[in-house]
Amino acid sequence: MAQTEAMSELKQQALVDINEANNEKELQDVKVKYLGKKGSVTGLMKHMKDLPKEEKPAYGQQVNEVRQTIEQEIEERQTVLAKEKLDKQLESETIDVTLPSRRIDIGAKHPLTRTVEEIEDLFLGLGYEIVDGYEVEEDYYNFEALNLPKSHPARDMQDSFYITDEILMRTHTSPVQARTMEKRNGQGPVKIICPGKVYRRDSDDATHSHQFTQIEGLVVDKGIKMSDLKGTLALLAKQLFGEDREIRLRPSYFPFTEPSVEVDVSCFKCNGKGCNVCKQTGWIEILGAGMVHPNVLRMAGFDPEVYSGFAFGLGPDRIAMLKYGIEDIRHFYTNDVRFLNQFKAVEDRGEI
Ligand code: PHE
Repeated sequence: MAQTEAMSELKQQALVDINEANNEKELQDVKVKYLGKKGSVTGLMKHMKDLPKEEKPAYGQQVNEVRQTIEQEIEERQTVLAKEKLDKQLESETIDVTLPSRRIDIGAKHPLTRTVEEIEDLFLGLGYEIVDGYEVEEDYYNFEALNLPKSHPARDMQDSFYITDEILMRTHTSPVQARTMEKRNGQGPVKIICPGKVYRRDSDDATHSHQFTQIEGLVVDKGIKMSDLKGTLALLAKQLFGEDREIRLRPSYFPFTEPSVEVDVSCFKCNGKGCNVCKQTGWIEILGAGMVHPNVLRMAGFDPEVYSGFAFGLGPDRIAMLKYGIEDIRHFYTNDVRFLNQFKAVEDRGEI
């Protein structure tokens, strides 16, 4: 039996509607219109009951064919619409990879970190190890093991924050040298630098802070001489302030070194002629140093008849202030971004 006119008309109309559906929503409406519970195709099925019995199977088959055709067409249209949608989306979301990227604000390295890292790099290159220590330290390692027994007058050089009678905030990074030597069971060589924060009971002003940074250096081996110390420090001065810098050693006193020296570097600003940075002297004091005192070696288990060593301690705060022309040490610790951002600007221009 051929399709009834109503049937083929309905089919034709359905195909037109399907093709005219321009998005998934419209297509869904078309689907409901023809195939839904109250849809036209479903309606055709309802006529079945009015037909003579022998015509029913053929009629049913015809309606099913119409239904299948419409279902198939909807599915195809569905695929086309999905592809169109994706194409449109891809087109609208195209990325122009040639555009310059958006700048990510990542800040700059703190001037102290920069200075500490510069010094670390130099000493790593010379085969030193970097050793960390405790900021809360025992009186024994901070003082006694460094030849500063209880009630030694030189303790006054380093006013301290005590937590108990035996525990304090370390006043220098030297306790790390005492602890490291002790661990080596009297066997050299020891070649370390110890950077870290230290604390002293000081009233804060432009050049003093109750918290500051130090780097301690220590070398202990057979046959270490004062000239080794001098050569090492000359290299350090050049690294920090330029190739033309020279150093001079002045006699000084530290309980843990003998002899002890204060080390000056020739002024990087006036080249030694005298200016405001070097207070007209041509020299700038940058660190304390000396040959490790035999008592210190002995207390840490080294035989001073066999081993000798040198130690030095410097303050990255002071170095950074000199290098970058910073007049107030408190800038390092108050975290004002306007101060810190200046380093970013200088860094961006590749000046440091
Ligand atoms: N620890 C000393 C200080 O803080 C510095 C120093 C270290 C001096 C090592 C000599 C040798 O004053």
